Amino acid sequence: MKDTPPRPQWQTHIGFISAAVGSAIGLGNIWRFPYLCYKDGGGAFLIPYFVALLLVGVPLMILELGLGHKLKSSAPISFASVSKNWEWLGWWQVIFVNFGIVLYYSVIIAWCLSFFFFSFDLSWGSDPDTFFFKQFLSMSKGPFEIGNVRSPILVSLALIWFLNWLIVTLGVEKGLERANKIFIPVLFFITFVLVLWSIRLPGAKEGLSVYLKPDFSRLKDIKVWMDAFSQIFFTLSLCFGIMIAYASYLPRKAKIVRDSVTIGFANCFFSIFTGLGVFSVLGYMAQSTGKPFNEVVTQSIGLAFVAYPKAISLLPVFSKVFGILFFASLVIAGLSSSISILEAFTSSIIDKFHYPRKVVVSVVCIVCFFGSLTFATQGGLFWLDIVDHFITSYGLVLAGILECLLIGWVYKASLLREHINTVGIWRLPSIWDYSIKFITPFVLIIILISTLLKEFAAPYGNYSPLAVIVIGRDWLILTIILAFIFASRRGHS
Ligand code: ALA
Repeated sequence: MKDTPPRPQWQTHIGFISAAVGSAIGLGNIWRFPYLCYKDGGGAFLIPYFVALLLVGVPLMILELGLGHKLKSSAPISFASVSKNWEWLGWWQVIFVNFGIVLYYSVIIAWCLSFFFFSFDLSWGSDPDTFFFKQFLSMSKGPFEIGNVRSPILVSLALIWFLNWLIVTLGVEKGLERANKIFIPVLFFITFVLVLWSIRLPGAKEGLSVYLKPDFSRLKDIKVWMDAFSQIFFTLSLCFGIMIAYASYLPRKAKIVRDSVTIGFANCFFSIFTGLGVFSVLGYMAQSTGKPFNEVVTQSIGLAFVAYPKAISLLPVFSKVFGILFFASLVIAGLSSSISILEAFTSSIIDKFHYPRKVVVSVVCIVCFFGSLTFATQGGLFWLDIVDHFITSYGLVLAGILECLLIGWVYKASLLREHINTVGIWRLPSIWDYSIKFITPFVLIIILISTLLKEFAAPYGNYSPLAVIVIGRDWLILTIILAFIFASRRGHS
């Protein structure tokens, strides 16, 4: 049980970049970003989005890659090396993503997989709304009416967990690196084909002008800025413990600054590019149904599973092929992110307790499969919505603030900067220290306070206060308790 194999290492630099980009690009890029962009001022949203990328995204990415590379361990052990009192923060990150995000994330990938199969005969028929919410999810009336596990989701979910298990169990080089080296080029290729296809559809131009038409007045709304910052966290997989673990597998010479900029911008451009396709398709749908644009566009989940299927059915030629490609791209994007979440938790357990990888991954996948069933029930979509809100708006942002304080002040940002500059080629200027010590935590504190104020003004999503407290807040609190338990356990040496 306690023999420690040598630390795995990426075999190639492109393998590492593919894995990191694969983790960043996920379901959030394809259905969450375009909708946010539409509702938060169109092209004008790109301003807060890129401000968030430059102010928080890239500096934190440099921090996480630099830390993992220097300390050669996963998040909990890296934070424990800085100060034993902070080990819990590393555990908290990998626990709330592994026993929060990935549980519902895997269910959404499972829906995508089911819709991939449905595309072969356009099973959603002429009313995708009823098909998705009533037939497929068979949604209950509220979060406390959880109902049964939906059997159509169960099979896809089991398959997704099997794939997660297979890839992560094979390890860094043979599993994650090899899978991502296939996933990323395939994903880019499919996306390219779909976007080219979509922008040539009649009505696409109108869709694109709605998507990108800037409405600068929206920038006065703090909510738009909050959306941009939480999206940057989620989309770059920051404070998930992933980038720290992935960087710990890098060789000694590492281009931390250059890689952080590459991963950050590749991810954000991918989002903008995919949005072109999404809005062209919606423009086409508006034109073919004769409805105004705001009636065809729906938010995130509805966009992928209702609006898109509707549009696919309306396509004049090869509609099934379009559906198959679209849902395949979602499955691939989702899987390359879910395996990274599992790896962050797995490597943390291996680093501390030295259990064999196969055992860890098998136990984790079985536990997570059963955990994810909560979100595959008839009340699952309500739970998903509430848990997602709490983890992304509070968990990630709070973890980001604490991470900056720990590395900026306790560890000293300048020490990490020296390391990054010794091993890399692009020099990290000293302004980065200020960004980690002051700017990033300050911005995040403002975002956190604004979200809290909004929460107190009205419970999230018009749910009952009890549902928000029991499902959202308590889920988050439970992950903190678990984090302290893991941190207090003695590791094997
Ligand atoms: N970064 C992943 C996404 O955006 C989790 O979906």
